[in-house]
Amino acid sequence: MKLINNVIVSFVQILPKSIVHFFAKKYIAGETLNDAIKVSKELNSMGIFTTIDVLGEDVNTKKESEEAKNNCLAVLDAINKNKLKANLSLKPTQLGILIDRYFCMQQVGEILDKASDFDNFVRIDMEDSSLTDDTLELYNKLKNKYSNVGVVVQAYLKRTYSDVIKQSSPSANFRLCKGIYVEPEEIAFKDGNKIRDNYLKVLELIFQNGNYVGIATHDEFLIKGAYELIKKYNVSKDRFEFQMLYGVREELRDKINAQGYKIRIYVPFGEHWYNYSVRRLQENPQLAWYITKSIFSLS
Ligand code: FDA
Repeated sequence: MKLINNVIVSFVQILPKSIVHFFAKKYIAGETLNDAIKVSKELNSMGIFTTIDVLGEDVNTKKESEEAKNNCLAVLDAINKNKLKANLSLKPTQLGILIDRYFCMQQVGEILDKASDFDNFVRIDMEDSSLTDDTLELYNKLKNKYSNVGVVVQAYLKRTYSDVIKQSSPSANFRLCKGIYVEPEEIAFKDGNKIRDNYLKVLELIFQNGNYVGIATHDEFLIKGAYELIKKYNVSKDRFEFQMLYGVREELRDKINAQGYKIRIYVPFGEHWYNYSVRRLQENPQLAWYITKSIFSLS
């Protein structure tokens, strides 16, 4: 089954869009902001927080990027209006970092101004390694002015431990994830155990530094490791939260929630669902089984 799974994973990108959509729709709230609000309300009613993401990356023009910014502002308005326990996640490429870094900073600054008005928070997602320096620079500049901004660091990158050392001012706020992009082995761990080791090493550093962290993973080994570190450093509950992706390991989500830990779900929505969906499908270790089951339940 593992072999069939690997073959299907490598074929996902050449599948017709309609098929990708059929299998990936469980990872996406829907195409509209109302869909994301509805999902957030449902999760909030279960005591679960959310972070809403307007899907889209790699925009090519300032106009597209301004549209993305307006969508982010609309999300913040909707969160405020609906009194949701939710914040916003955004991607630097969506806000124009590849077009003009200063323009991107102004755009994210506008979003942070609005978030500040609503006492809300914005997380800057981390994209591929060609953008790590620029994203950290963007974060650092914004952090000097705003207290409601955080960034993502990726455990598969060999540089992350030293990046976290450099970023460890008291106000630093991280989401720690394994990392999703395909990176060369010169700069990234490829072995799953090494990625896990680095994840826990970086998490320990963040706890030692006293920074806030979103522990973003569905890997029970890492969640167990996080529990041990929380106990070891007696980390108070206002210094961390667990984070998971919408549509992934809901039973684990509910278990963490029932144990009384804060948990936040990443809720993506929008018309530009394709790239995100392909990444999620490729990460599903039961992709072959999932596809087979869906075909039979259709017939
Ligand atoms: P792993 O991939 O080993 O998954 C552990 C287990 O979870 C699997 O064995 C399986 O059971 C289940 N699982 C995982 N993915 C699944 C799927 N799609 N379908 C079904 N089951 C699945 N990355 C990045 O580079 N930049 C970023 O900004 C972010 N942001 C981010 C936010 C949040 C809230 C999360 C949870 C994750 C990210 N990521 C990310 C993605 C992250 O880097 C990573 O790719 C995924 O979380 C998967 O890694 P895990 O730690 O869950 O381990």
